[in-house]
Amino acid sequence: MEPIQTTVASPVRILITGAAGNIGYSLAFMISQGRMFGPSIQVILHLFDLPQMEDTLKGVQMELTDGAFELLKGVVITSDPAEGFRDIDYAVLCGAKPRLQGMERKDLLTANAKIFKEQGKYLDTYAKKTVKILVVGNPANTNALILSKNSPSIHKENFTALTRLDHNRALAQLSEKLKIESRNIRNITIWGNHSNTQYPDADYAIVENHKAGRFLGTMPVKSLVADDNWVQEEFIRTVQQRGSAVIAARKLSSAASAANAICDHMRDWILGTSEVFFIKFFLKNIYKKIGFVFIFIVFGFNNLKHF
Ligand SMILES: NC(=O)c1ccc[n+]([C@@H]2O[C@H](COP(=O)([O-])OP(=O)(O)OC[C@H]3O[C@@H](n4cnc5c(N)ncnc54)[C@H](O)[C@@H]3O)[C@@H](O)[C@H]2O)c1
Repeated sequence: MEPIQTTVASPVRILITGAAGNIGYSLAFMISQGRMFGPSIQVILHLFDLPQMEDTLKGVQMELTDGAFELLKGVVITSDPAEGFRDIDYAVLCGAKPRLQGMERKDLLTANAKIFKEQGKYLDTYAKKTVKILVVGNPANTNALILSKNSPSIHKENFTALTRLDHNRALAQLSEKLKIESRNIRNITIWGNHSNTQYPDADYAIVENHKAGRFLGTMPVKSLVADDNWVQEEFIRTVQQRGSAVIAARKLSSAASAANAICDHMRDWILGTSEVFFIKFFLKNIYKKIGFVFIFIVFGFNNLKHF
């Protein structure tokens, strides 16, 4: 019998900058396992970092090889922008100076502005014009703006900043409080910047009630919590300060949870979501009108054909 012929799309090229760092290390493995784009999309990873980190990148490459991941069709390790940024389909920009204990995000601004200015030019020069970009390095929203300003040939709507970690942290707090699965909670919103001035908002959040696979309706999260003081004080404070709490405990900023949120963000953006729920991007029209990057709610969409 003839073997069944299946069409396999060519691998997508995903750049991770700062790939020798904490987040990069977790993220490279998650992507190789299909956590970002699912079990049928093959990937070639471009792992980019500073020249002094090339040995570390070689180690990461060896470990990726040792994972024997079926979806991983190649690994490029480099500190050369022409090689790292060339022909990429997706870019996850983690390469930045991290926030250390006691440091506020504003302190990072000056140090990281220079990096994102440079990398904007690399994207503009070497990447595919359709490249979709997620900025992770903090202050992420500001860096996304600097990046887009320096990549004039790439559409503004292709630039996003990571807030999904804050969204996931909010979900987790509510899920623990209500002792329910986080997947049943919808419409959590994070307003503002990715910093401790953000506003986690449970006002519109609902819980879906399913029994034996049947949808029975929804209930507002706030009425289920039945403790407005907790929602207004402890919930908001915990989510706002979670990054600092992780740094205080680990002496390093969040890494695996950030990598997990990066995969969630990219998957929902590129593949769409099965139901309508809130995710946060910055949108072309908003950007055009007011010219800055902030967190914004968009609704999920189904079956976008990006591959
Ligand atoms: N938006 C979010 O939700 C979120 C969450 C967690 C961490 N972060 C941020 O993500 C960034 C990375 O975090 P991490 O824990 O992986 O940090 P890390 O210090 O472990 O790694 C950063 C890596 O970036 C590299 N790097 C520095 N300058 C570079 C440049 N110009 N080009 C390429 N690479 C460069 C470093 O060599 C290092 O390997 C930090 O800015 C951190 O604050 C954001």
